[in-house]
Amino acid sequence: VNQDKKITIGFSQCVSNDLWRQEMNKSMQIQADLFENVHLEIVDANSNSELQSKQIQQFIDKKVDVIIVSPWQSTPVTPVIQKAIDNGIPVLVVDRKTDKQTYTAYLGADNYQVGINAANFIASKTNKPTKIIEIRGLEGSSPAYERSIGFKDVIKATPNLEIVKIIDSDWEASSIKESFRKALNEIKDVDFVFAHNDRLAYGAWEVAQDLGLEKQLKIIGVDGLPGPNGGLDLVKKGVLIATILYPTGGDEALRLAVDLVAKKTHPINNILESTVVDFRNAAILESQFIRINQKINDINNLQTNINQLQKTYNSQNNLVKILLVF
Ligand code: FRU
Repeated sequence: VNQDKKITIGFSQCVSNDLWRQEMNKSMQIQADLFENVHLEIVDANSNSELQSKQIQQFIDKKVDVIIVSPWQSTPVTPVIQKAIDNGIPVLVVDRKTDKQTYTAYLGADNYQVGINAANFIASKTNKPTKIIEIRGLEGSSPAYERSIGFKDVIKATPNLEIVKIIDSDWEASSIKESFRKALNEIKDVDFVFAHNDRLAYGAWEVAQDLGLEKQLKIIGVDGLPGPNGGLDLVKKGVLIATILYPTGGDEALRLAVDLVAKKTHPINNILESTVVDFRNAAILESQFIRINQKINDINNLQTNINQLQKTYNSQNNLVKILLVF
């Protein structure tokens, strides 16, 4: 990258009130700060596709160099993303996709594989007839769709496993508490729950506990965030039997966006690694995350020191120049 040219990156984040999104925003901002010439503007679409389309239009009007979008839902933002591309602005979609590959590049884990991993985990645990409830993410958002298809494909091919009920959600636990309670009251002897994220999984556990079913139900989530009550912690505590790691990729996204501006060759699909986390690897993963975060803090502090030194140098340099005039 030509270090002299200022690069403006507009990021339309679909929602910002959960820890996973906050982690993505934070890692993206830290990465942006490490480039002297990158300006990152993050806007929050607040779970609203119309607002998100408007924000993307504003980035087009401002003629930013590249747009990053995590679409709330696929279809509504597809036209405006196409428009950005038609205007010569590359668009990187992260975590959630648009329709028909209308983007310059995608970065995120493979959500079809996330669903497969969850189902394979269940298949590895039992040979007996097994009843499963699936709690899906938001309808119309690509991870919900892809996780569901991957999950179903394995379950269908595994004769002892059966999905007895599918419950829809808006990705947040409050949206499933009632419907999940009703399902547990209606269907007896449910063995497993696959919830499309750890927040839904935790909400499902709370309902199960309320009904005295928390020992019987084995719950799997997705995300695997570190920190108190994050997915890794929930697995360590035995609240969840497993979670499927779903990295946010904020820093990778920022670097890829800079590459898109520089017109470097890149794959269309940039797939982040995912893995199954259960009691065997939850603790080690969590301690690795903590170590990485400490390193990031160290780098940040160093950056602040460098900036301070640079300022001191500049002002002293000016002083020398003034003195030389006399
Ligand atoms: C965060 C989130 C995650 C989930 C992802 C799917 O907003 O709901 O929990 O894995 O979005 O896009």
